[in-house]
Amino acid sequence: MSEYTHIFKGTAFTSKSATDVHILKDYLFFINADGMIVKTVAPEQADYQQLLITYQDQNNFHALAEGQYFLPGFVDLHVHAPQWAQSGTALDIPLYDWLNTYTFPIESKFSDLAFAQEVYEDLVSTLLANGTTTSLYFATVHKDASVLLAKICAEKGQRGLVGKVVMDDPEQNPDFYRDENTKTALEDTEEFILAVKDLAKTTKQGVYPVVTPRFIPSCTDGALKGLGELAAKYDTHIQSHCSESDWEHGYVKERFNKNDAVALHDFGLLGDKSVMAHCNFLSDEDARLFAETGTAIGHCPISNAYFANSVIPIARFHAMGVDIGLGSDVSGGFSPSLFDNARQAVMSSRMLEDGVDTAIVAEKRGVPNSRITINEAFYLATAGGGESLSLPIGRLQENYTWDVQIIDTKISTAKLPIFDQNEDLHDIFQKIMYLVRPENIREVWVQGNKVHTRD
Ligand code: GUN
Ligand code: FE
Repeated sequence: MSEYTHIFKGTAFTSKSATDVHILKDYLFFINADGMIVKTVAPEQADYQQLLITYQDQNNFHALAEGQYFLPGFVDLHVHAPQWAQSGTALDIPLYDWLNTYTFPIESKFSDLAFAQEVYEDLVSTLLANGTTTSLYFATVHKDASVLLAKICAEKGQRGLVGKVVMDDPEQNPDFYRDENTKTALEDTEEFILAVKDLAKTTKQGVYPVVTPRFIPSCTDGALKGLGELAAKYDTHIQSHCSESDWEHGYVKERFNKNDAVALHDFGLLGDKSVMAHCNFLSDEDARLFAETGTAIGHCPISNAYFANSVIPIARFHAMGVDIGLGSDVSGGFSPSLFDNARQAVMSSRMLEDGVDTAIVAEKRGVPNSRITINEAFYLATAGGGESLSLPIGRLQENYTWDVQIIDTKISTAKLPIFDQNEDLHDIFQKIMYLVRPENIREVWVQGNKVHTRD
């Protein structure tokens, strides 16, 4: 019996840095029983031919066909799982109205476990089919339905980081959808953490409990403080929304006379395992606080276009040393696909860029050096997400998990325009990033297990 559970051969793309993509042409990848990449071998290496001869006839050897490529599985840093049921609707109204008239009513329905099961199963399958191997989820205020989401991730093989949402302030939340009071919010969160930690023991890929104050406006001071303490006690991840909209940013300023980032920090909610969604209106000082504490930004470019009318300066925050990954923000963002969000991240950044040809137009507009490339958007969707969560995911290299999507560029219903067999591989990479549809995602693997096959 081989010491490897699986061996794969094929061409892979993985981030070398935020700006550069490493092309691993015809590499061998050796996966152990824990689903980790334990060895990669390039064709130039002396033992490559011998390894091929040894393993290629075994039934755990998988060679990609022509036109197929490995990408790391995507890491979605911001998904509202219950909102899948309303994806694509009501995006023409402001955030505050959207929450109160659409979102809270739909989320309140997740007290019904049968409804939760139907929506959550469909969402997790859809995300896997779109190449998302790790998701950081907001569930709802309901403890049992939140545990159910973690259970569905465990069963379907996705790496789910799941939060029971806390919204305990009776002044700010509707009576039909909130925690009963601060005490029950904290008790339910603690029970939720313990239940998910238990569940995690049954999985290979891991499921993780996440401390989740929805955002400062929905929580009392007591809940925010208690949640910071629970995260410290159990060493959990933390997620919330930060400086998303003018309304939210202004609300926090008025309540605490501080920026959102500073207020979250003072409640013990920033740190190496914290991911804050949106962050459109982060000041440079806030960004420095993120960099110092290791707090990451979940960048949600589609959602930001709708609810914040805003483009976050990714390039600037990256240069300041802030970890950043990509989020779909289902359903503030209408698409469950991180391919779509990566494309929007590039397009939005181009709109922020100084677009004036000063030889023709004298006036200055936009912000210089704002544009990001498709390489950087790929990094956000993969390695940047892994770094944000402090997990060894998002890269195809040794000591990382075998989380991959196998892209087939030759599927008859979604063929990519590749006409030259010797086309430059970086050009093929760009075509994949811009043109792939779910049909092109032939297989998805998480931690060495196959979790999706295109049918
Ligand atoms: N702020 C508080 N709750 C939400 C939510 O569900 N979606 C978005 N986009 N922002 C929020
Ligand atoms: Fe959100």
